Amino acid sequence: MSEEHLIRTTVNGEERELLVSPRETLAEVLRERLRLTGTHVSCQSGICGVCTVVVDGDAVRACLTLAVQADGCEVRTVESLGSVDEPSELQRAFIEERALQCGFCTPGFLMLASWFLRVRPRATDEELLEAMSSNLCRCTGYRGIVNAVRKVRDTAAARAQTQEESS
Ligand code: FES
Ligand code: FES
Repeated sequence: MSEEHLIRTTVNGEERELLVSPRETLAEVLRERLRLTGTHVSCQSGICGVCTVVVDGDAVRACLTLAVQADGCEVRTVESLGSVDEPSELQRAFIEERALQCGFCTPGFLMLASWFLRVRPRATDEELLEAMSSNLCRCTGYRGIVNAVRKVRDTAAARAQTQEESS
């Protein structure tokens, strides 16, 4: 029988202590123990990106991350972005740009995009396209997804410019 490990991790700003088995993935812990089912799972081999979450500021595949690796880390899932009643700017842009159809890939794209916009706020269109290509969508053809992320990037840039000019 495999020994369980106590991990302490901060998930969406809340401190959690959990006993996990050495083979349990972060995706399993998020979905099955913490009921954060916004993190989806599909390929379980790092290809599709539906399980993307942010760990200590990096976008990671939760299906390939062991829960024990999250010990002492700060984890953010799609639930941290906004809610149905109060969607984030990025979530609103996904709706406005019709960046989803079935929605299965959407949590992964939202987390990938929120991470990317934070680390590369002035990314070029090419860089943005390359970053979004690391996740798979079987419905939309990607145009809406890319337009939504671009819209948030451009709005933030315009806001920063206005602030610069008025200071
Ligand atoms: S389920 Fe994690 S990359 Fe596909
Ligand atoms: S919206 Fe269906 S897989 Fe992307």
